[in-house]
Amino acid sequence: MIIDTFGRSHTYLRISLTDNCNLRCFYCMPEENYTFTPASRLMQTEEIEALAKIFVANGVDKVRLTGGEPLVRKDAGEIIAALSKLPASLTLTTNATRLHEFADTLQEAGVRSLNISLDTLQAQKFMMLTRRDQFRQVRDNIDLMIGRGFHVKVNAVIMKGLNDNEINDFVEWTRDTPVHVRFIEFMPFSGNRWASNKVVTLHEILATVQQQFTITPLAGDQHDTAKAFSIPGHLGTFAVISTMSTPFCSGCNRMRLTADGKLKNCLFSREETDLLTPLRKGDDVLPLILQNIAGKKKELGGQFTEDFQHLHPEDIDNRSMITIGG
Ligand code: GTP
Ligand code: 5AD
Ligand code: SF4
Repeated sequence: MIIDTFGRSHTYLRISLTDNCNLRCFYCMPEENYTFTPASRLMQTEEIEALAKIFVANGVDKVRLTGGEPLVRKDAGEIIAALSKLPASLTLTTNATRLHEFADTLQEAGVRSLNISLDTLQAQKFMMLTRRDQFRQVRDNIDLMIGRGFHVKVNAVIMKGLNDNEINDFVEWTRDTPVHVRFIEFMPFSGNRWASNKVVTLHEILATVQQQFTITPLAGDQHDTAKAFSIPGHLGTFAVISTMSTPFCSGCNRMRLTADGKLKNCLFSREETDLLTPLRKGDDVLPLILQNIAGKKKELGGQFTEDFQHLHPEDIDNRSMITIGG
């Protein structure tokens, strides 16, 4: 077991396959001169597999592939197939643009659940947010995967004045569709134009939903990032990921491996440990993993608190979101 100094067992590994993406969401990718990491500096399929095996041998029972967009990587199918053989549940966070090409691979690999990023239900706004004309493909792919029986969660980052007027449209979607919408409080990362007055909080989101719907809290797991709610008669549910106003770090079981093979013990950690270089040299990386997790801070990477109103994004020392993978 990989346990930190606060007694938290780390059983969930998020692996970023690439910092490349085929969309251009401003809240994720820095605008100025962003260059993707060249393929040669990324972990190769066998290296991902070797590292994942070490984590699984030490208690990890859930692996999530992230990006950038994981499915833009040419060998994504091979990586999915390789990791599916490990005794851990395998899942994916994706922008859904390429899911139609991977539906069979994912099904054959035994993937049951998918988290899909979609911040608007309006084609024009999608174009504005992502700078790509892919709304129809994404919506069709969500329907495709639900039709194939996947458990689909939709992640919508809510930003004041941009898409907060669509909260109840998303909730309405859950009436006749078994889709699980998760509203996410906007978080600050390097170069992402975050400002405290653009955050829409858990409290505000619930107040908006309650103007139109009767909601009931659902029992959750101690490790959940989201607080979920049901609505009588709805096939789907909705939830809120409240990192900024109501952090959930006490139940954290997550570790992150960046596409260039660095271990991050928190989404907001300043420190990183290079695992890829020692792995390539044939060194034992387990002591490095344990040391990294032993240094994990209690909350939010030790970089801020829920009093985010006075937070200046430049005070946070971190990567951009696209290089972390969420
Ligand atoms: P589940 O496994 O379905 O619970 O998904 P998840 O919430 O762990 O992963 P996903 O990739 O769908 O991320 C959804 C949102 O939650 C993104 O904005 C992530 O940045 C955020 N998130 C994921 N893990 C953490 C975490 O450990 N801490 C915080 N603060 N946010 C997280
Ligand atoms: N704040 C909150 N969530 C974010 N995501 C990307 N950038 C941000 C941000 N600044 C979400 C995406 C994706 C998940 C991995 O992280 O919507 O679904
Ligand atoms: Fe875990 Fe860091 Fe997320 Fe808190 S902010 S839940 S400590 S990864």
